[in-house]
Amino acid sequence: MLKNFWYAVEFSHAVQRQPRKITCLGQDFVVWRRRNGEVAVLSDLCVHRGGALSMGKLVGDDRIACPYHGWEYEPDGTCVKIPANPVDRGIPKKARVDAYPVIERYGMVWAFLGDLPEEQRPPIPHIPEHDDPSYRAVYFETTIEANYERTMENVVDAAHAPFVHGTAFGNPDKPQIPDFELSQDEWRCEADILMSPPPAKGRWKRLYKDKPEQVVVTNGWYLPNVVKLHVRLPFGDMLLYDFNIPLTQDRTLIKIIGYRNFLTSKWADKNAVQRISKILEQDRVVVEAQRPELLPFDLSAELHIRSDALQVAYRRRRRELIERGWWVGDDDVVTGDVPRRRATVIPSPARRDNPELARAWVHKTRGGGDEPAGDTE
Ligand code: FES
Ligand SMILES: [Fe+2]
Repeated sequence: MLKNFWYAVEFSHAVQRQPRKITCLGQDFVVWRRRNGEVAVLSDLCVHRGGALSMGKLVGDDRIACPYHGWEYEPDGTCVKIPANPVDRGIPKKARVDAYPVIERYGMVWAFLGDLPEEQRPPIPHIPEHDDPSYRAVYFETTIEANYERTMENVVDAAHAPFVHGTAFGNPDKPQIPDFELSQDEWRCEADILMSPPPAKGRWKRLYKDKPEQVVVTNGWYLPNVVKLHVRLPFGDMLLYDFNIPLTQDRTLIKIIGYRNFLTSKWADKNAVQRISKILEQDRVVVEAQRPELLPFDLSAELHIRSDALQVAYRRRRRELIERGWWVGDDDVVTGDVPRRRATVIPSPARRDNPELARAWVHKTRGGGDEPAGDTE
């Protein structure tokens, strides 16, 4: 899993005043909508005794109070009240948790999970359809018991469509994938791929006049975890943006926004969601059974052909970022038959921004290698 990226962690409409727990990179966060409408994302780990702030409540203007002993934290992570202390006793400098930069864009809440200063942060993927009034959006989510890179690669993999999806999305009589060009930069990779469309059926049948021999499908990935599928049907465009949120290394929360510029009335939403759901259930079966569960680090561990070019590009780029120290593993360690979770966090930008606070952090950080994290100094 990669740190130092903007992660789309939740649909905007799902974040309200009530604090909630969200999970990403094997890490829990508390998220809530502040009085001023902005969203706060903090590490869900109270520095006192590891209470889950997400079980706490909002107090005062905009603070979250830990459910265990009531320590109160501001949205920037500083603790401003320790109820058990006499009123004239100061708050220790170390009484702070990591708070993460947040941007709301394209109907998603994006949290920057890493400690890079603003100017060094990779971009948020561009989703032009979101603000285009000719498109209508539907929202979908499900959890898959598989690694997020396996689920990501599945979406950019055109060759699986006729086998896994049959005629739902693909043409089993024409499985060939013509060679395609990659269009790539540091953070994204896309390709226009010619595919044979599925036989016309269901609601779409009436929309087809002359069924084309081939349609252009744009497949692409955007680091760290977004994949796009853009199908140009003769009667309009359908796009799926698929956010593969790593809950842990082997569990993925998939959130999808599906856009279409045909049948844009509300009554067609249900059908659009059903199509997404059907395709995902077909993918689930194969992806949950893939071995090894985690995407191999070594390119030669699996055999690639020309039509796998998007996945190969991803694996190459990911290797560069691992060498840069952006990889975080899973901190869940199983001891005997009792799972044990370590109290470590993703470092937030405040750790670099305030060198004078260098020692003012209770929780150790994750990433930058396989060092045992969370052990005593
Ligand atoms: S554990 Fe949070 S206040 Fe004690
Ligand atoms: Fe699929």
